[in-house]
Amino acid sequence: MSTLQVKIWRGTESGQFQAYEVPRLKSQSVLDVVTYVQRQLDPSLAYRFACRVGMCGSCAMKVNGKARWTCRTHVANVAINDALEIAPLGNLPVIRDLVTDMAPFFDKMAQARSHFKGARTRAHDFERVMPDSPKRKQADAAIECIGCGVCYSSCDVVTWNPAYLGPAALNRAWTLVNDVRDISNAQRLAAVAGDAGCHACHTHMSCTERCPKHLAPTAGIAGLKRAVAAAALKGEI
Ligand code: SF4
Ligand code: SF4
Ligand code: FES
Repeated sequence: MSTLQVKIWRGTESGQFQAYEVPRLKSQSVLDVVTYVQRQLDPSLAYRFACRVGMCGSCAMKVNGKARWTCRTHVANVAINDALEIAPLGNLPVIRDLVTDMAPFFDKMAQARSHFKGARTRAHDFERVMPDSPKRKQADAAIECIGCGVCYSSCDVVTWNPAYLGPAALNRAWTLVNDVRDISNAQRLAAVAGDAGCHACHTHMSCTERCPKHLAPTAGIAGLKRAVAAAALKGEI
């Protein structure tokens, strides 16, 4: 049976890679490899996953230097000479081994006002938004975010400026800016207009290149820049 040479980060911010030998299987995902190590070789290994089908966003790690969702990443597509190096996501504190503290990531979602605020109550009828309306199409294009943090981990501006809201929070803000039912867009645009908001993006595109859901946060951030400018000209923010 052929084997994979796997190095996995052990420790917290300080630590080292530890080497393991894992049987090579057909159709094996990187998450399968990590799970084999934890179940068969070293039960003290800490890592995180839930759905295993690309929905929950909890299994993201760095694989051979690039952030990825590991449950949908086939070993055959990323192994180099039958070797893998698996590390925790970047730009986030490491709790232990492959587990990062996602609190800064979700705190920034809150700072960007990533929650919906509507005006209707249970007493109202549903509001209808036409599927082919331009705003609905723009919201749809950005809505499938699973909160995996791959883009956040891949963004150099987050590394340089830890206060930067980052691609996922701004992508979510853009989704809501295009939601015609939402009534808090002036506050949302004000929240993303500051020094750590959309204008800090250097359009490096790493987020868009790496997003496993094929979203384009860079395009959404460009849309936010235009929306912020328009709101400022109208005196709304
Ligand atoms: S496009 Fe902007 S948000 Fe995306 S990785 Fe580059 S700097 Fe970060
Ligand atoms: S925008 Fe893409 S990479 Fe970023 S958190 Fe959402 S799904 Fe993950
Ligand atoms: S385990 Fe849910 S997205 Fe990978």
